[in-house]
Amino acid sequence: MIKKDMDWKNIGFQYRKTNGYVYAKCINGKWGEVQFSTDEYFPIHIAANVLHYGQACFEGMKAFTTKDGKAAIFRPNMSAKRMNRSAQRAVMEKVPEELFLKAVKEVVKKNIDYLPPYGTGSSMYIRPTLIGSGPTIGVTPSEEYTFFVLVTPVGPYYKEGFKPVQSIVIDEYDRAAPLGTGDTKLAGNYAAGILPAKKAKSLGYPIVLYLDSKEKKYVDEFGTSNFIGITKDGKFKTPKSPSILPSITNDSLQIIAKDIGIEVVKEQIAIDDLNQFAEVGACGTAAVITPIYSVKHNDKTYTFGEKEVAGETLTKLYNILEGIRYGEIEDKYNWLEFVV
Ligand code: PLP
Ligand code: COI
Repeated sequence: MIKKDMDWKNIGFQYRKTNGYVYAKCINGKWGEVQFSTDEYFPIHIAANVLHYGQACFEGMKAFTTKDGKAAIFRPNMSAKRMNRSAQRAVMEKVPEELFLKAVKEVVKKNIDYLPPYGTGSSMYIRPTLIGSGPTIGVTPSEEYTFFVLVTPVGPYYKEGFKPVQSIVIDEYDRAAPLGTGDTKLAGNYAAGILPAKKAKSLGYPIVLYLDSKEKKYVDEFGTSNFIGITKDGKFKTPKSPSILPSITNDSLQIIAKDIGIEVVKEQIAIDDLNQFAEVGACGTAAVITPIYSVKHNDKTYTFGEKEVAGETLTKLYNILEGIRYGEIEDKYNWLEFVV
C-alpha cells in the first residue's frame, strides 16, 4: 500500500482530512447498514437533539502499523462496551457491538493510506461518535440516532511526547459531579472542561488535574486522561472515584503492571498526600502515558522525579504497552484486532 506523502514523525495531534468516514443510522430502534462517505459534512435537522440537549457520546481508539506491516486496532471491543454505557446514561440507542467493530475496521481499511507507517511513532486516531439526530423540541430522547466513525493520523497529544509536563489543579471549576456523568464519555463533559483547560494553558500548564467535586480533597483525573502514580515504595496507584472515566489504557497498564510483579492499588488519593509518589503519569488513548513532572495546587507544588525525563517504572510500562501495540512484543492478552 502506498502511503500518503507526509512528515509522519511530526504530524501532531490535529484533525486532517482523510478519504472518508463511515456511518449508520438507527430509526425507531432499527439499525441500518454501515455506509461510507467521502464528504466531511452531513445535513442535520435543525431540531436534532444533539444540537440542543447534547445527546452525544464518543470514543477514542488508535490503530497502529505493526512491525510486520499489519494494521492493528487496540482493544476496540472495550470501546464498544464503553460507548454503550455512555449511550445508556443519555438514553441513546445502543450501537450493537458487531456493528461498532465492523464500522471501525471498515473506516481503517478505507483510509489505510493514512495509517502512519511502522517506526514513525505515529498512529491513526479513531473517533466513533453517537448522536441523537432526530428532532426533539421537548427534553426527550431522540427517535433517530446517527453513529459515525472518523479517523485521522496523529502524533503525541502533548507535543513533547514521552517527556514530563507540568499540571495544575483548577479548583474553581468541577469536571463532574459524584452522581453525574463523569464516568461516561458524554460530549458535554468535555465542553465543561474547555474553559478550565484554557485557563491552565494561559498560566503555562498544558494539563488540568481535577479533584472530587464534593469535598475537593481527593484526586479524580486529568481533563482527558486518568491519574496514575508509582509510589515511593514501588506500587502502581490510581484513584477510586465514581466520577472518573474507566480508562482502557489504565486498565491495560494495570494488567501489565501486575504481570511484571508490581502491586496495583485502587483507592482514594488525597491531594495533600501526593508526596507519596515518585512518578506520576496521565494515561489515555491520546495521552498514552504523559509523565507529569509537577502538580500545582493553590500555593503548593508537588514534584515527581526529574524535570526532563520520565521515571523508570512508567518508562518500563510505556515501553511494554507500545511494544505490544507495534507488534514488537507478543500480544499475549489478545488486545490487537487486525484489519488487513
Ligand atoms: N479520562 C478522560 C476524561 C478521557 O477523556 C480519557 C480519554 O479517553 C481517559 C480518561 C482515558 O481513557 P482511555 O484510556 O480509554 O482512552
Ligand atoms: C482519548 O484519549 O481518546 C480522548 O478521548 C481524549 C481527548 C482527545 C478528548
